[in-house]
Amino acid sequence: MGKLQKPKHHIFVCASFRTKGEAQGICNRKNSTSLIQYLESELVDRGLDDVLVSSTGCMKLCDRGPVMMIYPDNYWYGEVDEEAIDEILDALEEGQPAKEYLFAD
Ligand code: FES
Repeated sequence: MGKLQKPKHHIFVCASFRTKGEAQGICNRKNSTSLIQYLESELVDRGLDDVLVSSTGCMKLCDRGPVMMIYPDNYWYGEVDEEAIDEILDALEEGQPAKEYLFAD
């Protein structure tokens, strides 16, 4: 087996997948699938090839969805749209959180 290339950042986007494989939760209704596509294409455009994206089940934060988390930085973002993704990635490239989209602690 080759050497495991671990990502520098791992971005999780709530896509509220259900056990039967049917995505019908709130983040999904709020368009998280197209957000994931947007995010993936932004990562390619920016040459951020050490960032991995995964979709998750419901994070129990539906009121503030779509929800997105970045590890190991532990940044949690709510009400994410394409504009937010641009700002979040700008900040990530500078090693910072995009403060206006962060969940309050
Ligand atoms: S469906 Fe995304 S937080 Fe609940």
